[in-house]
Amino acid sequence: MCGIVGYVGTKKALPILLDGLGQLEYRGYDSAGVALVEDGQLEISRAPGRLSALKKLLTEKLTTSTGTNGIGHTRWATHGKPSEANAHPHASEGVCLVHNGIIENHLELRRELEREGVVFTSETDTEVAAHLLAKEIKTTATPLDALKQMASRLRGSYAFLALDERFPDRIFVAKTATPIIIGVGEGEFFIASDIPALLPYTRSVIMLEDGDIAELSPTRCYIERDGVEQKREVVQITWDRTTAEKRGFPHYMIKEIFDQVEVISDALRERVDMSSLEVDLSETHLKEDQVKATRTIHLVGCGTAWHACLVAKYLIESIAGIQCVVDHASEFRYRSLTLHKDDIVLAISQSGETADTLAALLRGGEQCRTVAICNVVGSTISRKADHVLFTRAGPEISVASTKAFTTQLVAAYLLAIALAEMKGTLEQRREAVRALLNLPGAIDSTLKLNDVIERIAERYRTHRHVLFLGRGLCYPIALEGALKLKEISYIHAEGYPAGEIKHGPIALVDDNLPVVVLLPRQNELFDKTLSNLREVGSRGARIIAITDSERHDEIAPYVEEVVTLPFISHHLTPILMSIPLQLFAYHVAQKNGLDVDLPRNLAKSVTVE
Ligand code: M6R
Repeated sequence: MCGIVGYVGTKKALPILLDGLGQLEYRGYDSAGVALVEDGQLEISRAPGRLSALKKLLTEKLTTSTGTNGIGHTRWATHGKPSEANAHPHASEGVCLVHNGIIENHLELRRELEREGVVFTSETDTEVAAHLLAKEIKTTATPLDALKQMASRLRGSYAFLALDERFPDRIFVAKTATPIIIGVGEGEFFIASDIPALLPYTRSVIMLEDGDIAELSPTRCYIERDGVEQKREVVQITWDRTTAEKRGFPHYMIKEIFDQVEVISDALRERVDMSSLEVDLSETHLKEDQVKATRTIHLVGCGTAWHACLVAKYLIESIAGIQCVVDHASEFRYRSLTLHKDDIVLAISQSGETADTLAALLRGGEQCRTVAICNVVGSTISRKADHVLFTRAGPEISVASTKAFTTQLVAAYLLAIALAEMKGTLEQRREAVRALLNLPGAIDSTLKLNDVIERIAERYRTHRHVLFLGRGLCYPIALEGALKLKEISYIHAEGYPAGEIKHGPIALVDDNLPVVVLLPRQNELFDKTLSNLREVGSRGARIIAITDSERHDEIAPYVEEVVTLPFISHHLTPILMSIPLQLFAYHVAQKNGLDVDLPRNLAKSVTVE
């Protein structure tokens, strides 16, 4: 989710680069950097923190710089903490580059280069690309050939912009699985990872495709793929800047819901080996002996993250066989605790700054080991925890959490598998991991139900109460569905374990109450939930069933709506079930004219008690 920009033309590049980075800061903001070719030499400036820190550093240079060719980067850390050393551009022997994406095989490449005597100065995956490019340039005819060679060594996703000081009026570009767009001007080109950075300068753009390699000079844009020159159409962008930031969606929330295919693919990168079907979470530095000794995992979080804790409990208990206890962080921090030194406190937090979650983690850390599942690299929780697994959801701007939640579930699933591997108790690893590889595709199919959910939202949007029911792994998803609806639609919603409603809440059911029932196909859960569905159905409830089962004949007589999801595995069903509920809350709020991204009374990150 980093932002990258480039300019080659006849104007001074530096102000254009800084302006472009400013337009992209919403993509990531823990450090920034630029590189220019000035009088045939690379000049690189980098600063940790927000873009304003880099701008301050470059105040004088803004007037003195004459370079008309440069690249820039605003970083959202995935590998290595936010720091000047980890900020882009990364350089090696007269070349430098900026990168957006994840290089999955960076560790093996790093070891190879270190054996050849290369000295690394950062913890990033990107630096290997800079050294590889410098190495290839020594044996290839042109920098473009070197870039092709370098790209052929990489696994993962990338958009690279590179400079070579021997070619002061050229930018070299490579792209696979990460967006890059070229803005076409008069005797100049602008390059960016996202459209907003281009809009102040041009509306004529060329979208690069996966596998493209390009060379840009002020008067020429040469693109090739697999050694063959490509002719690409110049298209006109009609979006305004805010629409462009939201990728054409009307709100951040719906954009972030649709981001889930991409961010979940990122969450799996280099952690899941597609051929051996192994999970590698060595980045957490959890040791086998610690895991084998673990007695209880205490999961803590707030709001949506607390729901992720509930799912994680099911996953860890059923896959790794380790007992888990879940607490609201705000309760855990003041409760009398009986923690054992071999326990683990596992905190889940998108922001890594939630005051209650941080306090619970610190309290746990006084007596035992702590682990965090967190989205923001460099956040307080990620720094205070003994071990961290980052969710890689990228910046989440809408107050209502969506992609952060599902990536937390992916992280919990990966962790459960890794713990089971370390304990030596993992059964059916290949099946468990193979299911994960089908997840991005299944999310994509689920998102195609958007129109169906929008129609359902229109049908129920005026109700003042909604009940959400689920059992097992779907119970926390019922809670999350209710929370989403409450926080952005201001409709009273309750999530309940479906088996519990007969102990009280069934008294609420009348012929005007919408009830969303989550029906996973797993036989026992399906049968039990179906019988709970009948209990409310026979009392007149207006039921919306969400299921990955094919047993529609048994559901149909009791429900007004059935939404059918793809099935990949019981453990991953909660991730897919979350998506129609996110879409439902979104469409209800949007149709009711509410401020979807900034709901009343709420803050994105609650850093006070
Ligand atoms: O940043 P965190 O994950 O620690 O935040 C926890 C909650 O404040 C957060 O999940 C909140 O419930 C969301 N607004 C839910 O959409």
